[in-house]
Amino acid sequence: MCKLHGGTEADAAGMDITKGREILPANVVPTHYDLTVEPDFKKFTYEGTVIVDLDVAEDSTSISLNTLELDIHSTKIISGSQTISSSPSLSYDESSQTTKITFENSLKKGSKAQLEMKFTGQLNDKMAGFYRSTYKNTDGSQGVLATTQMEPTDARRAFPCFDEPSLKAEFTISLIADKKLTCLSNMDVASEADVQSEMSGTTKKIVKFNRSPRMSTYLVAFIVGELNYIETDKFRLPVRVYAPPNQDIEHGRFSLELAARTLEFYEKTFDSPFPLPKMDMVAIPDFAAGAMENWGLITYRVVDVLFDEKTSGASTKERVAEVVQHELAHQWFGNLVTMDFWDGLWLNEGFATWMSWYSCNIFYPEWKVWQSYVTDTLQGALSLDSLRSSHPIEVPVKKAEEVNQIFDAISYSKGSCVLRMISKYLGEDAFMEGIRQYLKKHAYGNTQTGDLWAALSQASGKNVVETMDIWTKHVGYPVVSVTENEKDNTIHVKQNRLLRTADVKPEEDQVLYPVFLGLRTKDGVNEELVLSKREDNFKIPSLDFFKLNADHSGIYRTSYTPKRLEKLGQAARDGLLSVEDRTGMIADAGALAACGYQKTSGVLNLLKGFDSETEFVVWNEIISRLGAIQGAWIFEDQKIRDGLETFQRDLVSEKAHKAGWVFKDGDDHIQQQFKGMLFGSAGMAGDATVRKAAKDMFAKFAAGDKSAIHPNIRGSVFGMALKYGGKEEYEVILDTYRKSVNVDERNTALRTLGRSKDPELIKRTLELPFSGEVKEQDVYLPLSALRTHPEGIGALYEWMTQNFDELARRFPAGLSMLGTLVSICTSSFTKKADLERVEKFFDGKSLKGFNQSLAQSCDAIKAKEAWLSRDRQDIKEWVEAYQAKSIKSEL
Ligand code: BES
Ligand code: ZN
Repeated sequence: MCKLHGGTEADAAGMDITKGREILPANVVPTHYDLTVEPDFKKFTYEGTVIVDLDVAEDSTSISLNTLELDIHSTKIISGSQTISSSPSLSYDESSQTTKITFENSLKKGSKAQLEMKFTGQLNDKMAGFYRSTYKNTDGSQGVLATTQMEPTDARRAFPCFDEPSLKAEFTISLIADKKLTCLSNMDVASEADVQSEMSGTTKKIVKFNRSPRMSTYLVAFIVGELNYIETDKFRLPVRVYAPPNQDIEHGRFSLELAARTLEFYEKTFDSPFPLPKMDMVAIPDFAAGAMENWGLITYRVVDVLFDEKTSGASTKERVAEVVQHELAHQWFGNLVTMDFWDGLWLNEGFATWMSWYSCNIFYPEWKVWQSYVTDTLQGALSLDSLRSSHPIEVPVKKAEEVNQIFDAISYSKGSCVLRMISKYLGEDAFMEGIRQYLKKHAYGNTQTGDLWAALSQASGKNVVETMDIWTKHVGYPVVSVTENEKDNTIHVKQNRLLRTADVKPEEDQVLYPVFLGLRTKDGVNEELVLSKREDNFKIPSLDFFKLNADHSGIYRTSYTPKRLEKLGQAARDGLLSVEDRTGMIADAGALAACGYQKTSGVLNLLKGFDSETEFVVWNEIISRLGAIQGAWIFEDQKIRDGLETFQRDLVSEKAHKAGWVFKDGDDHIQQQFKGMLFGSAGMAGDATVRKAAKDMFAKFAAGDKSAIHPNIRGSVFGMALKYGGKEEYEVILDTYRKSVNVDERNTALRTLGRSKDPELIKRTLELPFSGEVKEQDVYLPLSALRTHPEGIGALYEWMTQNFDELARRFPAGLSMLGTLVSICTSSFTKKADLERVEKFFDGKSLKGFNQSLAQSCDAIKAKEAWLSRDRQDIKEWVEAYQAKSIKSEL
């Protein structure tokens, strides 16, 4: 048992999820904030004044509210026209990040009061609260802008506030800034006037924004900086994309047009007009997440909103569309209707994730996003949730620093899988009707998961509460084992909890999930069958052909007998299975081998049978399952690893040659990605023709022809240059990172550098995160590729242990970066001795803010260790037999 399960509640069922929550006292309730802020770009501070209107719910002689790293100069309590106190006493509690204001004359229940505070804040470089972000101007000088990131609990870092999602209030925001700077906030501008700045002694402008509707503090946003914009009138309200002057604003065109169309689509689909007067979307040079859904003022990482068709590939375009549609979905789901506390985060993120696929599928049907959902979202959810250290979708959250850890594949991916499952079960029309009713009923309010189930039940006439509660309140999911009885044409199905470590204890296997069987036979799909018991028998028309979990909209894995799996392989070749079926079946087989449900050699044989497969997503899954085996075998004998590489080459080479690596205008979106993937997979497995082609392209690129490498294969060409090349190639790629003006290209360069195994170059890669030339938002980028070789994995871990204090200092517990880094630096190990090293290193250290990531890493190592001890010999024999056969056929 990993000793590091610091305080994770494994299962929330039956317990009071609100228990132990650290929340503010409810004696006063905020209704309106009047906030004025003036940033100082020289000192990197800002002066603020906030006046909060309060409803007094109980007789009170104290008010507690959240503040963090704010220097409070004055506090005043006003009731009507009377100042109750102009110098109340203030005490601070660090653990709960609250300031308690105590005064003598009590505020009376039922009355109204005002709290006024003046304060100085830090325009910090931590990407949280009101922070500074920098960029390089074309003349080499540095530009600075000030922006906000409040979610989940950093509004308190920007201004004193009641920083809980259910304490909604209206906001009137004013910004004081140099006249030449652009000032933005959630609302449109109400007035602009000259003002004499006390801070600088110069004339500045004060920009006052209109009063907002009722909203949560985590959605407040304001920005001051030099920004260019483009605008569209295609939506009934103005929509703009803003970017700092170092970016070509025209690259915002794709997001701009998509946003306008999506807003119109969402208004119709949700039957609810967008309630704000405008929508601004801003590219921010330093940004912790991918994007943030601030109401009316969405902020983005540059790569997630600016897109240049000429220099970026198909997958980047899909990512940008996903992010834009995700954040716009939040404008209703999250912003208009908000979870009442952070344990309901999945309502926000699960829905926005589901909605982004739903809308993307309508806007770009040719992208077939529901197919890639099976390889991406579903596998992400099933993978994390197969660890003992996973958590239920509805997870108790007590403290601020715990919140960041649940922005993970459970809230996003498993959450959206649950919604997909229920939408399939109810039908998408009934599901959407339920969503419309939910949004209407709870507009400007807060909800719990049960409110969504109630709306869906009402709209569909089906009772979904009981069924769905099981999925959201418990950790994990089942594996359904299928056996067959030929005599009476029945199948026997049995469910058990699936754990990747293959060591489920009886007490961990108590929950019986309502499993939608989705039985596919020659007659079509039966969507009605549900397995709610431990095990049951089902009659089927004929045992010739059947498959469970049609299209993989259910959250479980299916374990078939080896014989049935072989037959399913044949069924796939005979065209009896959908693309989703083929993809999901391979994923299940691969994952189940890793958990000990079948032999890994069986999976390799299954993959071999797919050589006539023509679909991109299926190949994507084949290659990623093979990658998972290679990842677990990474510290094994070189001969075995070479054998697996040969197998990969044999699978993809011919296909890669046939598809080619020339990208034409006529290539569709999927074809482009398919070609790119085959090229990369063949080349990385050592295919000589592909390697030669990559080498030629790279040589031209190095000589100055920047268009020699198509963006769809940029990562692969760089990767091959580093894997098969040396210092010279490394310099070219590092130089590309340093000098390219294209962020997408720079990121690809940074992301691939770690591929190089040369100890000297590994050292240089590991110097990058602290070199000052990599932004903090990007520190994980140069690290990831080091995980592709044993030398890199070892070096990464050493680097982390030697620099841990510095890492913990740079990335505070409240941000999720530390967890990400710990996971990158530890999870690639496969041996017990290394697991012990990791455990020993962290023993006695504070795991605040990353205990979950660490526990998950430890579980992942343990799972690989167990897998290897089961199938090491199996794979050795398979590889030897495979190689013997290849030699024979060559002779
Ligand atoms: N609300 C999140 C942003 C966020 C993440 C804030 C973590 C605080 C902590 C936003 O809606 C989001 O989910 N962004 C995603 C992009 C999306 C397409 C999955 C992201 O940042 O990656
Ligand atoms: Zn989101």
